[in-house]
Amino acid sequence: TEPTFPTDLLTIDQLSPAALSRLLDRAARIKAGEEAARLDDRTVAMVFEKPSTRTRTSFEAGVTALGGHPTFLGQDDIHLGHGEPIKDTARALSQYVGAIVARLNSHDDLTELAAHADVPVVNALTERAHPCQTLADLLTLRELAAESGGSLSDVTLAWVGDGNNVARSLVVGCALAGVDLRVATPEGYGVDDDAVAAARAAGGEPTLFDSAEAAVAGADAIYTDVWMSMGEGESRAEKLPAFEGFQVGEDLLGGGAKLMHCLPANRGEEVTDDALESEQSVVWQQAGNRKPTQQALLLELLGE
Ligand code: CP
Ligand code: NVA
Repeated sequence: TEPTFPTDLLTIDQLSPAALSRLLDRAARIKAGEEAARLDDRTVAMVFEKPSTRTRTSFEAGVTALGGHPTFLGQDDIHLGHGEPIKDTARALSQYVGAIVARLNSHDDLTELAAHADVPVVNALTERAHPCQTLADLLTLRELAAESGGSLSDVTLAWVGDGNNVARSLVVGCALAGVDLRVATPEGYGVDDDAVAAARAAGGEPTLFDSAEAAVAGADAIYTDVWMSMGEGESRAEKLPAFEGFQVGEDLLGGGAKLMHCLPANRGEEVTDDALESEQSVVWQQAGNRKPTQQALLLELLGE
Protein backbone atom coordinates (compact mmCIF):
# COMPACT_ATOMS: atom_id res chain seq x y z
CA THR A 1 0.00 0.00 0.00
CA GLU A 2 1.02 3.59 -0.63
CA PRO A 3 2.29 5.52 2.41
CA THR A 4 -0.10 8.22 3.59
CA PHE A 5 1.06 11.78 3.08
CA PRO A 6 0.31 14.58 5.59
CA THR A 7 -1.94 17.54 4.76
CA ASP A 8 0.79 20.10 5.52
CA LEU A 9 4.55 20.09 6.00
CA LEU A 10 5.31 22.24 9.04
CA THR A 11 7.92 19.94 10.57
CA ILE A 12 9.72 16.99 9.02
CA ASP A 13 8.38 14.55 11.62
CA GLN A 14 4.98 14.76 9.89
CA LEU A 15 6.47 12.41 7.29
CA SER A 16 6.71 8.68 7.90
CA PRO A 17 9.93 6.98 6.78
CA ALA A 18 7.95 5.49 3.86
CA ALA A 19 6.46 8.85 2.81
CA LEU A 20 9.90 10.49 2.99
CA SER A 21 11.43 7.73 0.92
CA ARG A 22 8.69 8.03 -1.71
CA LEU A 23 9.16 11.80 -1.82
CA LEU A 24 12.93 11.45 -2.38
CA ASP A 25 12.34 8.85 -5.13
CA ARG A 26 9.97 11.24 -6.81
CA ALA A 27 12.40 14.16 -6.48
CA ALA A 28 15.08 12.04 -8.15
CA ARG A 29 12.68 11.24 -11.01
CA ILE A 30 11.83 14.93 -11.40
CA LYS A 31 15.53 15.78 -11.49
CA ALA A 32 16.03 13.13 -14.17
CA GLY A 33 13.17 14.59 -16.25
CA GLU A 34 11.02 11.48 -15.75
CA GLU A 35 7.96 12.96 -13.98
CA ALA A 36 4.75 13.56 -15.91
CA ALA A 37 2.53 15.03 -13.14
CA ARG A 38 1.71 18.73 -13.38
CA LEU A 39 0.39 21.64 -11.34
CA ASP A 40 -1.30 23.20 -14.36
CA ASP A 41 -3.31 26.33 -13.58
CA ARG A 42 -2.70 26.10 -9.82
CA THR A 43 -1.50 29.12 -7.90
CA VAL A 44 0.85 28.80 -4.93
CA ALA A 45 0.95 31.70 -2.44
CA MET A 46 4.42 32.49 -1.12
CA VAL A 47 4.07 34.41 2.18
CA PHE A 48 7.54 35.59 3.26
CA GLU A 49 8.28 37.68 6.36
CA LYS A 50 12.07 37.16 6.12
CA PRO A 51 14.52 37.43 3.21
CA SER A 52 15.22 34.41 1.01
CA THR A 53 17.33 33.67 -2.03
CA ARG A 54 17.16 29.89 -2.45
CA THR A 55 13.81 28.97 -0.94
CA ARG A 56 11.85 31.66 -2.72
CA THR A 57 13.46 31.16 -6.11
CA SER A 58 13.49 27.36 -6.05
CA PHE A 59 9.79 27.29 -5.15
CA GLU A 60 8.90 29.90 -7.78
CA ALA A 61 10.92 28.21 -10.52
CA GLY A 62 9.70 24.78 -9.44
CA VAL A 63 6.03 25.76 -9.54
CA THR A 64 6.47 27.51 -12.90
CA ALA A 65 8.19 24.47 -14.41
CA LEU A 66 5.21 22.30 -13.37
CA GLY A 67 2.76 24.64 -15.11
CA GLY A 68 1.59 26.42 -11.97
CA HIS A 69 1.87 30.03 -10.90
CA PRO A 70 3.65 31.28 -7.77
CA THR A 71 2.46 34.55 -6.27
CA PHE A 72 4.98 36.19 -3.96
CA LEU A 73 3.55 38.04 -0.94
CA GLY A 74 6.32 39.83 0.94
CA GLN A 75 5.76 41.46 4.29
CA ASP A 76 4.95 44.86 2.81
CA ASP A 77 2.63 43.44 0.13
CA ILE A 78 -0.19 41.99 2.23
CA HIS A 79 -2.16 42.94 5.32
CA LEU A 80 -0.62 40.19 7.45
CA GLY A 81 1.57 41.91 10.02
CA HIS A 82 -0.23 45.22 9.42
CA GLY A 83 -3.43 44.54 11.31
CA GLU A 84 -5.07 41.55 9.59
CA PRO A 85 -4.94 38.44 11.76
CA ILE A 86 -3.32 35.24 10.53
CA LYS A 87 -6.58 33.33 10.66
CA ASP A 88 -8.20 35.80 8.23
CA THR A 89 -5.19 35.72 5.89
CA ALA A 90 -5.36 31.91 5.94
CA ARG A 91 -9.06 31.75 5.06
CA ALA A 92 -8.86 34.42 2.37
CA LEU A 93 -5.82 32.92 0.61
CA SER A 94 -7.49 29.49 0.71
CA GLN A 95 -10.21 30.84 -1.60
CA TYR A 96 -7.69 31.45 -4.38
CA VAL A 97 -4.65 29.20 -4.19
CA GLY A 98 -3.85 25.49 -4.16
CA ALA A 99 -1.15 25.74 -1.49
CA ILE A 100 0.54 28.25 0.80
CA VAL A 101 4.33 28.30 1.25
CA ALA A 102 5.23 30.46 4.25
CA ARG A 103 8.44 31.77 5.82
CA LEU A 104 7.25 33.36 9.06
CA ASN A 105 9.03 34.89 12.04
CA SER A 106 7.17 32.69 14.48
CA HIS A 107 6.54 28.95 14.26
CA ASP A 108 3.40 29.43 16.36
CA ASP A 109 2.09 31.79 13.65
CA LEU A 110 2.76 29.12 11.04
CA THR A 111 0.82 26.57 13.08
CA GLU A 112 -2.06 29.03 13.30
CA LEU A 113 -1.93 29.69 9.55
CA ALA A 114 -2.14 25.96 8.87
CA ALA A 115 -4.96 25.49 11.38
CA HIS A 116 -7.14 28.02 9.54
CA ALA A 117 -6.12 27.32 5.92
CA ASP A 118 -8.16 24.89 3.81
CA VAL A 119 -5.18 24.18 1.55
CA PRO A 120 -1.77 22.58 2.25
CA VAL A 121 0.71 24.80 4.10
CA VAL A 122 4.48 24.35 3.69
CA ASN A 123 7.06 25.66 6.15
CA ALA A 124 9.63 27.66 4.20
CA LEU A 125 11.60 28.26 7.46
CA THR A 126 10.69 29.40 10.93
CA GLU A 127 12.89 29.95 13.97
CA ARG A 128 12.18 26.34 14.91
CA ALA A 129 12.32 24.31 11.72
CA HIS A 130 13.43 24.20 8.08
CA PRO A 131 12.01 20.94 6.73
CA CYS A 132 12.38 21.84 3.02
CA GLN A 133 16.12 22.25 3.58
CA THR A 134 16.28 18.78 5.12
CA LEU A 135 14.55 17.25 2.08
CA ALA A 136 17.22 18.70 -0.24
CA ASP A 137 20.00 17.63 2.12
CA LEU A 138 18.73 14.05 2.23
CA LEU A 139 18.53 13.91 -1.57
CA THR A 140 22.12 15.21 -1.69
CA LEU A 141 23.33 12.58 0.79
CA ARG A 142 21.47 9.90 -1.16
CA GLU A 143 23.25 10.96 -4.34
CA LEU A 144 26.64 10.99 -2.58
CA ALA A 145 26.01 7.53 -1.12
CA ALA A 146 24.95 6.19 -4.53
CA GLU A 147 28.34 7.22 -5.98
CA SER A 148 29.90 4.43 -3.90
CA GLY A 149 27.03 2.01 -4.38
CA GLY A 150 25.44 2.78 -1.01
CA SER A 151 22.23 4.23 0.36
CA LEU A 152 21.23 6.68 3.11
CA SER A 153 21.58 4.01 5.81
CA ASP A 154 25.31 3.79 4.98
CA VAL A 155 25.91 7.52 5.61
CA THR A 156 27.48 9.11 8.70
CA LEU A 157 26.91 12.86 8.93
CA ALA A 158 28.32 15.31 11.50
CA TRP A 159 26.57 18.55 12.40
CA VAL A 160 29.03 21.17 13.76
CA GLY A 161 27.74 24.48 15.15
CA ASP A 162 24.53 25.98 16.47
CA GLY A 163 21.62 23.72 17.42
CA ASN A 164 19.32 25.89 15.29
CA ASN A 165 16.28 25.47 13.02
CA VAL A 166 18.28 23.71 10.29
CA ALA A 167 19.88 21.37 12.85
CA ARG A 168 16.55 20.49 14.47
CA SER A 169 14.96 19.46 11.19
CA LEU A 170 18.10 17.60 10.12
CA VAL A 171 18.24 15.59 13.35
CA VAL A 172 14.72 14.30 12.78
CA GLY A 173 15.12 13.87 9.01
CA CYS A 174 18.27 11.79 9.47
CA ALA A 175 16.45 9.59 11.98
CA LEU A 176 13.60 9.02 9.50
CA ALA A 177 16.06 8.22 6.70
CA GLY A 178 18.41 6.00 8.71
CA VAL A 179 21.38 8.40 8.48
CA ASP A 180 23.82 8.11 11.42
CA LEU A 181 24.07 11.67 12.77
CA ARG A 182 26.76 13.00 15.12
CA VAL A 183 26.00 16.44 16.57
CA ALA A 184 28.61 18.83 18.00
CA THR A 185 27.26 22.03 19.56
CA PRO A 186 28.76 24.40 22.14
CA GLU A 187 27.41 24.21 25.66
CA GLY A 188 24.15 26.14 25.89
CA TYR A 189 23.51 25.95 22.12
CA GLY A 190 22.53 22.32 21.70
CA VAL A 191 19.64 20.92 19.71
CA ASP A 192 16.66 21.05 22.05
CA ASP A 193 15.22 18.01 23.80
CA ASP A 194 12.06 18.09 21.65
CA ALA A 195 14.07 17.51 18.49
CA VAL A 196 16.09 14.72 20.06
CA ALA A 197 12.85 13.14 21.32
CA ALA A 198 11.32 13.42 17.82
CA ALA A 199 14.43 11.78 16.37
CA ARG A 200 14.13 8.91 18.84
CA ALA A 201 10.44 8.55 18.02
CA ALA A 202 11.47 8.31 14.37
CA GLY A 203 13.78 5.43 15.20
CA GLY A 204 17.09 7.31 15.32
CA GLU A 205 19.64 8.08 17.99
CA PRO A 206 21.73 11.19 17.30
CA THR A 207 25.05 11.05 19.15
CA LEU A 208 25.75 14.31 20.98
CA PHE A 209 29.25 15.79 21.40
CA ASP A 210 30.61 19.02 22.80
CA SER A 211 33.74 18.94 20.64
CA ALA A 212 33.81 19.31 16.87
CA GLU A 213 36.89 17.04 16.47
CA ALA A 214 35.16 14.16 18.22
CA ALA A 215 31.98 14.51 16.17
CA VAL A 216 33.65 14.54 12.75
CA ALA A 217 35.74 11.39 13.31
CA GLY A 218 34.64 8.91 10.65
CA ALA A 219 31.98 11.21 9.15
CA ASP A 220 31.29 11.10 5.41
CA ALA A 221 30.05 14.71 5.47
CA ILE A 222 30.24 17.68 7.85
CA TYR A 223 27.33 20.14 7.94
CA THR A 224 27.39 23.63 9.38
CA ASP A 225 25.22 26.76 9.35
CA VAL A 226 25.51 30.37 10.54
CA TRP A 227 26.01 31.01 14.24
CA MET A 228 23.48 33.87 14.20
CA SER A 229 20.18 33.06 12.51
CA MET A 230 17.74 35.58 11.02
CA GLY A 231 15.73 37.41 13.65
CA GLU A 232 17.69 36.10 16.64
CA GLY A 233 17.34 38.30 19.70
CA GLU A 234 20.67 37.43 21.29
CA SER A 235 23.60 39.75 20.56
CA ARG A 236 26.60 38.53 18.58
CA ALA A 237 28.95 39.63 21.35
CA GLU A 238 27.14 37.40 23.85
CA LYS A 239 26.73 34.39 21.64
CA LEU A 240 29.83 34.05 19.48
CA PRO A 241 32.56 33.40 22.09
CA ALA A 242 30.96 29.99 22.82
CA PHE A 243 31.64 28.93 19.21
CA GLU A 244 35.43 29.02 19.39
CA GLY A 245 36.72 25.74 17.95
CA PHE A 246 33.56 25.14 15.91
CA GLN A 247 34.63 26.76 12.63
CA VAL A 248 34.68 24.25 9.78
CA GLY A 249 37.94 24.64 7.90
CA GLU A 250 40.76 22.50 6.61
CA ASP A 251 41.47 20.96 10.05
CA LEU A 252 38.03 19.41 10.42
CA LEU A 253 37.87 18.52 6.72
CA GLY A 254 41.31 16.89 6.76
CA GLY A 255 39.78 13.43 6.88
CA GLY A 256 38.25 13.97 3.43
CA ALA A 257 34.60 14.45 4.46
CA LYS A 258 32.29 16.42 2.19
CA LEU A 259 31.24 19.89 3.38
CA MET A 260 27.54 20.78 3.59
CA HIS A 261 25.99 24.19 4.34
CA CYS A 262 22.41 25.29 3.73
CA LEU A 263 23.63 28.82 2.79
CA PRO A 264 23.81 31.76 3.04
CA ALA A 265 27.25 31.34 4.68
CA ASN A 266 29.14 33.79 6.83
CA ARG A 267 32.64 33.09 5.55
CA GLY A 268 35.29 33.43 8.25
CA GLU A 269 32.81 32.63 10.99
CA GLU A 270 31.25 29.14 10.93
CA VAL A 271 33.13 28.12 7.78
CA THR A 272 36.24 29.25 5.91
CA ASP A 273 36.19 30.54 2.36
CA ASP A 274 38.75 27.89 1.37
CA ALA A 275 36.50 25.12 2.70
CA LEU A 276 33.42 26.40 0.88
CA GLU A 277 35.34 26.74 -2.38
CA SER A 278 37.11 23.38 -2.02
CA GLU A 279 36.49 20.17 -3.96
CA GLN A 280 34.93 18.72 -0.80
CA SER A 281 32.13 21.30 -0.80
CA VAL A 282 28.73 20.05 -2.03
CA VAL A 283 26.84 23.23 -1.16
CA TRP A 284 25.74 23.94 -4.75
CA GLN A 285 24.43 20.41 -5.13
CA GLN A 286 22.39 21.01 -1.94
CA ALA A 287 21.09 24.35 -3.25
CA GLY A 288 20.18 22.75 -6.56
CA ASN A 289 18.29 19.94 -4.86
CA ARG A 290 15.90 22.42 -3.24
CA LYS A 291 13.92 22.62 -6.47
CA PRO A 292 13.14 18.95 -7.30
CA THR A 293 12.47 18.06 -3.65
CA GLN A 294 10.00 20.93 -3.25
CA GLN A 295 8.37 20.08 -6.59
CA ALA A 296 7.92 16.51 -5.35
CA LEU A 297 6.56 17.83 -2.06
CA LEU A 298 3.95 20.03 -3.76
CA LEU A 299 2.84 17.21 -6.07
CA GLU A 300 2.44 14.86 -3.09
CA LEU A 301 0.59 17.47 -0.98
CA LEU A 302 -1.75 18.29 -3.85
CA GLY A 303 -2.39 14.65 -4.67
CA GLU A 304 -0.98 14.86 -8.18
N1 CP B 1 18.97 27.74 2.62
C1 CP B 1 17.97 28.64 2.52
O1 CP B 1 16.84 28.42 2.95
O2 CP B 1 18.33 29.80 1.90
P1 CP B 1 17.45 31.11 1.68
O3 CP B 1 17.35 31.83 3.01
O4 CP B 1 18.22 31.89 0.65
O5 CP B 1 16.07 30.71 1.19
N1 NVA C 1 19.67 29.18 10.40
C1 NVA C 1 19.52 30.13 9.31
C2 NVA C 1 19.14 29.41 8.06
C3 NVA C 1 18.94 30.27 6.85
C4 NVA C 1 18.53 29.50 5.63
C5 NVA C 1 18.50 31.19 9.69
O1 NVA C 1 17.43 30.83 10.22
O2 NVA C 1 18.77 32.36 9.46
